[in-house]
Amino acid sequence: MLEFIRALKQQGLTILLIEHKLSLVMQLSDRVIVMDDGRKIAEGRPEDVRDDPLCDRGIPGTQAMWSGGSRLEIRDQRLGTAPNSLTPTSHLLSLQGIDTFYGPLQVHFGVSLHVSSGEIVCLLGGNASGKSTTVKVILGLVKPRAGRVMFNSQPIGGLPTPEIIRRGIGAVLESRRIFPDMTVRENLLMGAYTRRDRDEVQRDYERMLALFPRLRQRLHQRGGVLSGGEQQMLAMARALMGRPKLLCMDEPTMGLSPLFVDRVLELIGRINQQGVTVFMVEQNANLALQIAHRGYVLQNGHIVLEGAAGELLGSPAVRDAYLGGGR
Ligand SMILES: Nc1ncnc2c1ncn2[C@@H]1O[C@H](COP(=O)(O)OP(=O)(O)O)[C@@H](O)[C@H]1O
Ligand SMILES: [Mg+2]
Repeated sequence: MLEFIRALKQQGLTILLIEHKLSLVMQLSDRVIVMDDGRKIAEGRPEDVRDDPLCDRGIPGTQAMWSGGSRLEIRDQRLGTAPNSLTPTSHLLSLQGIDTFYGPLQVHFGVSLHVSSGEIVCLLGGNASGKSTTVKVILGLVKPRAGRVMFNSQPIGGLPTPEIIRRGIGAVLESRRIFPDMTVRENLLMGAYTRRDRDEVQRDYERMLALFPRLRQRLHQRGGVLSGGEQQMLAMARALMGRPKLLCMDEPTMGLSPLFVDRVLELIGRINQQGVTVFMVEQNANLALQIAHRGYVLQNGHIVLEGAAGELLGSPAVRDAYLGGGR
């Protein structure tokens, strides 16, 4: 992208770029304008803006923004501790020897993994390694050609997606997929569509607004007008409205600003502490491993590495798996 935008600029195109990937901003821009919470807080050449005292003056979050996020403190609390009070006893979810194809293209090669009750497990891997397809297999959106998917001690492979969700898997799919023309409130209630316990639904609705206070301010706006980070929170809250045993998330931090990345990861940790098991797919290994208990690395459809988050964090083997050869 960097090269591409540079080439456009060289051809004489004037560019207004809205971006929170700071490496990109710093390398490309002649001038930078920084906004925070609806206000312009700094403006100037990239190097001046980066050193602007405003960005250090305790304006909420700006520092984290400039340092590229990752002021997560959850990590120390979590690493090496048992996954919350529900000690993992059995595998809540397992994939056994999964082979998946799209027509002639084989995407999974004997993929096996498991998630125990109470855990946060992340599936890491570079572009096109088959991560999203794994989520689709779990949800029954893609049927594998071989292998088994077990959930709660029952085979769920071959079941229709609504039935899989009814059995207790909540889904936050790629690029969030909220209902853009429904209000935030309606989106939330849709998450409880199959539930009949109205009083409990109302209670969960209030719980979600307490957990995601930002949504409360937006209740009667259309989901489609929310920012990316807010939509991510809405998608998570909507999934939780179904009271899942397992929350399955595809790249929950993709496209979010560093601040929202931290916030979303923190929330995943909180949700897990409240008893929800989490399986998350992430491209950003170091961030995901800060909140996860265990991780797997997928490379071209093969699980090439697995281990405790603490072992994988910063491990050269993980980096090699990312850089390793293409198809
Ligand atoms: N519906 C589809 N039809 C054909 N090929 C697909 C389809 N979905 C994904 N693929 C291909 O399968 C591979 C794995 O995709 P995906 O699981 O989305 O990877 P990841 O999420 O790890 O980036 C990619 O090469 C992608 O192009
Ligand atoms: Mg993907």
